[in-house]
Amino acid sequence: MSKKIIMDCDPGHDDAIALILAGAKNSSLDILAVTTVAGNQSVEKNTKNALNVLEVMGRGDISVSVGASRPLIKPASFASQIHGKSGLDGPKLPEVPSLKPTQSYAVDVIIETLKQSEEPVTLVATGPLTNIATALIKEPSITQYLDSITIMGGGTFGNWTPTAEFNIWVDAEAAKRVFDCGVPINVFGLDVTHQVLATDAIINRFKTIDNQIAKFVVELLEFFKSTYKTHFNMDGGPIHDACTILYLLEPSLFTMQHTHIDIEHHSALTYGTMAIDLNDITNGEKNAYFATAVDVERIWVIMEDILKSYSDD
Ligand code: RIB
Ligand code: CA
Repeated sequence: MSKKIIMDCDPGHDDAIALILAGAKNSSLDILAVTTVAGNQSVEKNTKNALNVLEVMGRGDISVSVGASRPLIKPASFASQIHGKSGLDGPKLPEVPSLKPTQSYAVDVIIETLKQSEEPVTLVATGPLTNIATALIKEPSITQYLDSITIMGGGTFGNWTPTAEFNIWVDAEAAKRVFDCGVPINVFGLDVTHQVLATDAIINRFKTIDNQIAKFVVELLEFFKSTYKTHFNMDGGPIHDACTILYLLEPSLFTMQHTHIDIEHHSALTYGTMAIDLNDITNGEKNAYFATAVDVERIWVIMEDILKSYSDD
């Protein structure tokens, strides 16, 4: 039986790959809705990117709804140096997507989709947590419809400040509200995502797959590799967000530790830091499952199989 998911995202190269892995024809995941949030780029650009990616996937049946244009408290911050001016630089995509977003606000779509689902839903978040927190504030009872909230974010080190990862740093107040909501949070932070690097060797493997989606992914990864080389001197782009979907497709890919996680949202120096109590020092309520290890080789095998499953007809 397929697992029902909602994907809240800020495409973003790695968000796009997460969508492609989740939305393949024979996927065990059923995407009930896609919602967008300001993060890598403005919510308008991220929405345009999500629509274009679904078009390339041949999944115009999946709805996209526009969400928050800025965090709960702070002004918006974008990651143009990593994802480019469009938020999805590299591939050539239509300036005006053929698909259109719904007229509903993302937060309302999340709430109504959860209420109407006949089975528990996994809320996947691969951008800042503004929409998720707003839905929880507007309708706290939605927790009863969730089996988990599965996020890319955080880690024991930072990529935006020395201790904070971008998704959490953009809206730490929202992240704090999510981690306090009582629903189990599956957390894929930089500790594992920085091991899943799409290097030249991986890109060359995908170049042997003869279909449009693989060509699209290669173009995404070539650009992503270039900005990670420039800014982090890494030999490949870490496909951060794809880790959430790969976990849902094959949980055994990751080692998960049940732990207490809290979010710093006061300090100027450490705003957005994820405090992960792996040694159970605070004896705090274990509200999260934190990914501590990953089977990187198996990830590429799974990804290759999924890309091959897309047909060009
Ligand atoms: O820090 C990496 C995260 O920030 C990823 O989700 C990436 O898409 C950006 O949103
Ligand atoms: Ca993202």
